[in-house]
Amino acid sequence: MKFHIFSIESSCDETSVAIITDQKKILSHITVNQENHNKFGGVVPEIASRAHLQILQSIIPRCFKEANKSIKDIDLFCATSGPGLIGGLLVGTTIAKSMALGMRKPFYPINHLEGHLLSPQLTQTISFPNLTLLLTGGHTQIYLVESVGKYELLGETVDDAIGESFDKVAKILNLGYPGGPAIEKIAKNGNPFAYELPHPLESKKNLKFSFSGIKTAVNNLVKKQNKINQKIRRDIAASFQQKITEILTKKIMLSLDELKKRNYNVKNIALVGGVAANQNIKKNINKLCINNKFKLILPEISYCGDNAAMIAWTCYQRYKNNIKPDLGFKAKPKLPINENINETLVN
Ligand code: KG4
Ligand code: ZN
Repeated sequence: MKFHIFSIESSCDETSVAIITDQKKILSHITVNQENHNKFGGVVPEIASRAHLQILQSIIPRCFKEANKSIKDIDLFCATSGPGLIGGLLVGTTIAKSMALGMRKPFYPINHLEGHLLSPQLTQTISFPNLTLLLTGGHTQIYLVESVGKYELLGETVDDAIGESFDKVAKILNLGYPGGPAIEKIAKNGNPFAYELPHPLESKKNLKFSFSGIKTAVNNLVKKQNKINQKIRRDIAASFQQKITEILTKKIMLSLDELKKRNYNVKNIALVGGVAANQNIKKNINKLCINNKFKLILPEISYCGDNAAMIAWTCYQRYKNNIKPDLGFKAKPKLPINENINETLVN
């Protein structure tokens, strides 16, 4: 039997809906980036939640029309229910729950982080175990992914997230928001070795990340310049991107050493999340993979940033693994990846 899954993603500043099948066929997928935050240099939660409500009212009917399906055709309803900005989570979760309730169909609350971890599966078959780096605007985490639903957090950031550091450095350089694509663009013509930036926690040789010191170093560097011109901007952006790539490379090597000690034979390294769209990072991690005979796994570019297709796919995985739907689940701004994952149906 062919299953149809309807999903909503509204955890931050992308409003996204999708209808997909259990065969990974994307019948419709609409993502609207809320550009009204750009002038504030970051996401304004209240503006985001109001915009989600407004945008969803127009893109949900469009999604059904594009998919050529009616609400009666949907077998599973789901929404991102955490982690994220509570206003947006409540909007998406409440709408998807209401649809499920009205149609007497299951509702699955989906963890946004799990959505990112499974996003490469939308276009490829992935073997396990793998080492996955979750690189977003809110998180920087390294996971050992043993199978769908079995995630071990090996390390994460103690301060800023990696995407957040791109956004903050872009703000310092007056490049606008979101910072990642803007930095990547101007870094192409910059010298990545023009400025030496710090690698916080390097001496600790552990799997914790720290990015706030790099942002401070960039800030100090900019303050020291009499006048900041485009060449300086390009060189700082390239040096920053270079340092970030170097940090990721070192943390991957440390993680692999750690796993080797535990006799884990990891074959794949995956990069997921908005920052996984960065060409320079991908190119350099790919070199590391080739040199060490690992396969690099990446989501298709349209599934790197926040999107409802990955949420729908994660929902289907939960259903397939006999995990209970949960109409009573309350959206949570902080939601650890393993919470409510193991509540399987009693057969
Ligand atoms: O996964 P995502 O869309 O949302 C969260 O879950 O946070 O990630 C958004 C982050 C932003 O900080 C954005 O600046 C960053 O991903 N980003 C990039 C690139 N594209 C988006 N960072 C570096 N290079 C890029 N090309
Ligand atoms: Zn995300």
